[in-house]
Amino acid sequence: MGLFFCVIGHPIEHSLSPWIHGQFLNMSGKQGIYRTLDVPEKELGQTLQFLKKLEIDGFNITVPHKERIIKYLDELDPLAEQMGAVNTVVHKEGKWFGYNTDGKGYIRSLQSEYPDLFVDQTDKKALIIGAGGAARGIYFALMDSGFKQIDLANRTVERAHQIKSSNISTDVFSLQEAEEQLGIYDLVIQTTKAGMYPNVHEHPLSPMNVKHRAVVSDIVYRPIETTFLAAARASGARIHFGHGMLLYQAAFSFELWTGIPIDPAPLLTPLEQKLKGE
Ligand code: ATR
Repeated sequence: MGLFFCVIGHPIEHSLSPWIHGQFLNMSGKQGIYRTLDVPEKELGQTLQFLKKLEIDGFNITVPHKERIIKYLDELDPLAEQMGAVNTVVHKEGKWFGYNTDGKGYIRSLQSEYPDLFVDQTDKKALIIGAGGAARGIYFALMDSGFKQIDLANRTVERAHQIKSSNISTDVFSLQEAEEQLGIYDLVIQTTKAGMYPNVHEHPLSPMNVKHRAVVSDIVYRPIETTFLAAARASGARIHFGHGMLLYQAAFSFELWTGIPIDPAPLLTPLEQKLKGE
């Protein structure tokens, strides 16, 4: 029998996960299917009961269920527990195990394009813009990867204070303060929804003062090149697109389900073409 996976979310019709995991199944020579399940909040419990009976091999869980899923799990990975959110569930011998591959996936995608960032990173300074679930995941994964100074900037400054860990050095700034001192950072990561389709002209702050050759990254991937990234490139930064994160977090999920490691790098260009509608 083939493998059976799905992603649960609402809305979910534009999810790229079925395409990505279809490619992984092909690459690994495994038989299987991966489907989307559009599940509104009030139907989550019922849907999960159904999936348990079907003995699904694993599933992804996305907005708006990443926090609520936790109470239905038998075990929770420490990183997912720290983040308070799960994006991957693995079925093993009748039990459900929850993980979060978002932050790790993001770091791996950044590392594969800019390995120099992860050499002597104790001397480097990073700034995360935003303080939602995505920012939290990236903050902890970046900390695990060895960064010792990770600052946070958010429209609502109080939310950024809530993410702050005592294990590293973190200063919290307003967006305006961050914009003014952007030149001190080697890595700047934009995690807010500003600039996401259809609000493509928005950006949380101007990257004009960015350090020359700093890496500026945006996790928004619709459009691929946000207004923020275009301005960062024009100011002399090296840029990193958001769709890499999508591929690498999916590769970590696939490995958790099947034990098969996948190098998703060959899919970067085809995914880019898909996102551009080519
Ligand atoms: P996610 O879990 O995807 O990160 P979220 O928890 O809704 O989403 O967080 C969204 C983030 O985008 C927040 O940091 C939010 O800022 P606030 O905390 O002040 O709400 C930020 N955000 C959303 N729209 C924004 C905009 N137009 N300009 C600046 N920041 C924005």
